[in-house]
This record gives sequence, C-alpha cells and structure tokens, in this order.
Amino acid sequence: MNTKTTQTAHKLEVRDLDLFYSGVQALKKIAFTLDRQEVSALIGPSGCGKSTFLRVCNRMNDLIPSCRITGEVLLDSKNIYGSMDVTELRSRVGMVFQKPNPFNMSIFDNVVYGKRMQGMKDKRELSELAETSLKKAALWEEVKDRLKKPAQRLSGGQQQRLCIARSIAMEPEIILMDEPTSALDPIATGRIEELIGELKREYSIIIVTHAMHQAARVSDRTAFFLMGELIEYGATKALFTNPRDKRTEDYISGRFG
Ligand SMILES: Nc1ncnc2c1ncn2[C@@H]1O[C@H](COP(=O)(O)OP(=O)(O)OP(=O)(O)O)[C@@H](O)[C@H]1O
Ligand SMILES: [Mg+2]
Repeated sequence: MNTKTTQTAHKLEVRDLDLFYSGVQALKKIAFTLDRQEVSALIGPSGCGKSTFLRVCNRMNDLIPSCRITGEVLLDSKNIYGSMDVTELRSRVGMVFQKPNPFNMSIFDNVVYGKRMQGMKDKRELSELAETSLKKAALWEEVKDRLKKPAQRLSGGQQQRLCIARSIAMEPEIILMDEPTSALDPIATGRIEELIGELKREYSIIIVTHAMHQAARVSDRTAFFLMGELIEYGATKALFTNPRDKRTEDYISGRFG
C-alpha cells in the first residue's frame, strides 16, 4: 500500500478505499472524512460494511488474514497503512464494541490497563488517570467507593461506560463505537448518548448504529452504507429530512433494511 504522506485538513480522511475478504469485495471506493470534535454516524442494513469500515480506521482488519485493502486512510495527513506503528495507532484511535467487554479484573485495573502496559507505574499517577477517565465517562460517582471490585459486577450500562473510560484513559484522538448501546436498556442508552455529546468536545467519534433516531440525536454527520458502498454522507439533519439519494430515502423511511 501507498506509504506517502498526503495533506488533509481533516482529522481523518479515507480516500478511494477498496476492501476484500478472500477476494470478495466488502467496501467499494469509499471516500470519507471526519473532523475534529465531530460525531459521525454510520447507518445501513445488516452486512453493508459498517463494522468493516470502522475496523479499517484502526487496522483491526489486520487480524483477519483474508482481508486485503487498497486506498488511503489518513490520520492527521499520515497514512495509517504506511509506516505508522499499529500499537501507537490503536492508542490514538480507540474502539468500543457492541457488547461491553471489561477484562476479568477490578474496575480500577480495567481503566489503567493500557497505560500500565505502556509502563506507567506510579501509584498516584495511575489513581489520577483512573479518576479522570471515569469522570469523563460519567461513571465515577457510581464506582468511586468500589474501584477494587470486579468489573463484571457492574450493570451492562456501567460496563459499557467502563469500556469507554478504558478507551479514554489511552488519551485517544478518535473513538470508534460499534453499536455501543444495542445491548443496553433505554436508560443506559440515554446516558451513553449524553456522554457522546460531552466527549465530542475533546474527541472525534464514529458511531455505528441501527437506531436512526440515535444517529439523529448524537451525530453531526451521517453516512449511509449499502452493499459496501457509501451512498450518501452529509449533515445529519439534512440527510434525514431531505436525502439526496433515493436509496437513502427508502432506507430511512423504512422501505428496506
Ligand atoms: N472476517 C470476515 N471474513 C469474511 N467476510 C466478512 C468478515 N467480516 C465481515 N465479512 C463480510 O463483509 C460484509 C460486511 O460485514 P460487516 O460486519 O462489516 O457488516 P455490518 O454493516 O457491520 O453489519 P451488521 O449491521 O449486521 O453488524 C458482509 O457480507 C460480511 O459477511
Ligand atoms: Mg456490524
């Protein structure tokens, strides 16, 4: 893949991206941008390539041997498929999954896990990191008296906020979220949505969601994917009220998908 540096004013820019699994094309000629302090929502029917695209943005597809990619993915103008160190990339571009996946350890140890792996040892520094990250993830008040308790004892919604705290602790620039609320009840979902609104002051976020009202509530721009193509990408309000493409209109009005 091309390793040269190309200038872009965007936080993230994807150019001319094709992706194949064992020769079968799953993403076609994708062009996409994400700006600083922006929330972008990815919508589209099951199997259209949303998770695949999200994984492109922090090279999680590297773990899939049959996966081949061409095109450019620029993070601050630098191609992430070039000489960038993958560990560094993943700490700059964090990920939160559909099912909360706290590690089998205490709340505290979960949050500081990544920084410890990077060599952070000082007790006070680790405590401060845990506190700030949990505060930013709107979980601190609920867990501050039981930081040493197993993370698995938290509710699903709390576990998901813990995973967000774990991601934040790495001081990422972009957070990728793959259907982060689909396993949660409406109250927990509301809290995460509120949290996304706060997080975007500091981070850029890409969120995959099947709930169109969620995309409408939390995102600045929405991208509609269909069978591996990015059909339409634009201001969320405009896309939902006045889609440019007939296929977007059919999807958001519930005619398929
Ligand atoms: N590891 C893999 N190996 C081979 N094919 C894959 C792999 N992961 C995904 N695919 C295929 O790529 C296409 C896109 O899948 P992807 O998971 O990105 O869709 P999605 O939009 O996230 O769907 P959903 O809404 O159901 O999560 C599908 O046809 C899927 O079968
Ligand atoms: Mg998916």
